[in-house]
Formats: sequence, C-alpha cells, structure tokens
Amino acid sequence: MANVGVVGIGSYIPETVVTNHKFESYLDTSDEWITEMTGIKERRFAGDNIETSDMAVLAAKKAIENANINKKDIDMIIVATTTPDYHFPSVANIVQSKLNLNHIPSLDQSAACTGFIYALVTAYHFVEAGTYKNVLVIGADKMSKIVDFNDRSTAILFGDGASAVVLSEVSDGYGIKSFELGSDGDGGESLYVDKDTHHIKMNGREVFKFAVRAIKESSLSVVKKAGLRSENIDMLIPHQANIRIMDYARQKMNLPNDKLSQTLKYYGNTSAASIPISIDYELSNKRIKEGDHIVLVGYGGGLTWGAVCMTWGK
Ligand code: UT7
Repeated sequence: MANVGVVGIGSYIPETVVTNHKFESYLDTSDEWITEMTGIKERRFAGDNIETSDMAVLAAKKAIENANINKKDIDMIIVATTTPDYHFPSVANIVQSKLNLNHIPSLDQSAACTGFIYALVTAYHFVEAGTYKNVLVIGADKMSKIVDFNDRSTAILFGDGASAVVLSEVSDGYGIKSFELGSDGDGGESLYVDKDTHHIKMNGREVFKFAVRAIKESSLSVVKKAGLRSENIDMLIPHQANIRIMDYARQKMNLPNDKLSQTLKYYGNTSAASIPISIDYELSNKRIKEGDHIVLVGYGGGLTWGAVCMTWGK
C-alpha cells in the first residue's frame, strides 16, 4: 500500500483583525466572557472584496510552492467549504480556472467544520489507489458572510481564512496511518444555516456536548488504529471552536498543554480552514517536526466528525 502524506502547505489569513472589543461596543457581551468561555481574543474578516475562492487560490499557490512541484502536476482539487461564492460553479472549479490547472477534476465537499478531514480522507483514497498523484486539498470559509452580527452567542465565534495542502505519495514510515469519519443527520437542527436569513443558527449547549464526545472518541480511535498510544502523540490539532472542548480532549488523551494546538485565540473558528491553518501555524513555529505523530480531529454541523492520525514528513 502506498504511503500518502502532506508534501506542501500554505495559508491565507485576511489582514483585518477584529478584537473582542468590537463586539463589546454594540452587544451585551465582554472580552472577559468571550475569552473565558471560548478562548477567542480576535479573528480576521476578509471584507467585501475577498470571496472564499480568492482566499482558497492564495492558499493553494503557497501550498504548491511549498510542495516544490510544478502546478501542472496537480491532478485533482477538493475544496472543503460551506461558504462557497455560488451554489455552482464550485469554489474548486473557480480555483481550477484561476490557477489554470489543465482541465483536472475539481469539486467542493460540504461537511461544515469537519470538511477538511472529509476532504483529506477522500483525497487520500485517490492517491493511495494510484488514480491521482498530487491532490490539492483546501479548507476555505468566509464565515463573516453567514454570521448574524446581532446574535451574541454566534457572532463572537467565527472568522475567515483558507489553508491548502498537497497530498502525494511519501516515503515509508510517513503519512496518514489511520482515519475515522462519522455523521449523525438527526443532529442537523443543532447547527445549520437558516434558509431564509442565511444566518448560522446554533444550539450551543447541544453542540458543545456533542463536540466533547466526538473529539475524544475519534482522537482515541485513530491513535489506536494507527497502533500507537496517546503518549506517542506529539501534537493534537483539533478543529478550533472552543478552548474548553479542545482542552477536554487533550486531558482525555493525557497530553500536556504544549501538545495541543491552540490558534483560535488569534483566528476564532474558521470552520473548514481551522485545522490546516493550525498545522501551518505550528510548522511555522517549529512545533511540528519530521517524524512527529500528529492527530487532526474535526467536529461540526451535520452533525459530522472525523479524525486522522499521521506521521509528519515526506
Ligand atoms: O464549529 C462548529 C462547532 N461549534 C461549536 O463547537 C460551538 C460549541 N458551543 C460553544 O462553544 C458554547 O456553547 C458557547 C461558547 C457558544 C456558549 O457557551 P455555553 O457554556 O454553552 O453557554 P450557554 O449557551 O449555555 O449560555 C450561557 C449564558 C446564557 O445566558 P443565560 O441564559 O444563562 O442568562 C447566554 O445567553 O451565556 C449567555 N451568552 C453570552 N453572554 C455574554 C451567550 N453568548 C454570550 C456572549 N456574551 N457572547
């Protein structure tokens, strides 16, 4: 069986920083409440002129450069997003066109905040089967366009961003070791985008309980399937929604605090982009190195969840 792993990564994070104080100025909330209850201090908003596909393209260019391959060698594009520019063409179609990538297949995958994990596992199978050699997998979301800025329980949570990886065959010992995906459509009403207002609606308490369960079970499951133990894990990179959810999983895995990636403080919840943004962030800070065992775990609307255990390096 081929070893399949990440050979390049790159992110685009919008420049405009929005701190908790902005919400204090017009909502019944406070920096203290947001910090204590979520772990978020600030987030980035893309603004009117930058669409999800623009962020995806910028991230993709960096990932291809980082992979040190010719862009013409990319043979498939999968974009995880729930905030596409249009119902169709898909964000992936727009990325394919803007990067002028031959006429390769390109599609969006919709699994809300678990989207990147779903897309990564889908791409893994195409590479592992030998169907495609280099698949561009992008997580991109412009959450600011679906947030109700008058709803204090959701307005404070989300941010915009994109991050991309190139998934290819890697050397023995590296790459994806195990994965798990799941969904429970019965829970769809806990977190959805309203048909009329196009705003996010969330039963925070229900989603919180689900997230705590999903994150713990999926993380532990992929570690076991990979033939590893919790203490072998060098970095846990969960979807960045709430520090209390992430910390719970860390404790269940008996990991010290410095093995938990925590980027939501700076970027809030960027939905499908949050996991690859966090991988990129930890790499930039030299907190992931070759040979490290890392666990990626997502959870969110659908309800959906999923995790991947991989050994970093190519
Ligand atoms: O990425 C998708 C997945 N999403 C998530 O994982 C989000 C999961 N949920 C959460 O992170 C948490 O549920 C929240 C941070 C959204 C809320 O925390 P909570 O501990 O579940 O609080 P709660 O919703 O039960 O609300 C507690 C109180 C309520 O007031 P009352 O009814 O007790 O008087 C809320 O109205 O906190 C109030 N509240 C706020 N207060 C100040 C809700 N939002 C705010 C706010 N500022 N921004």
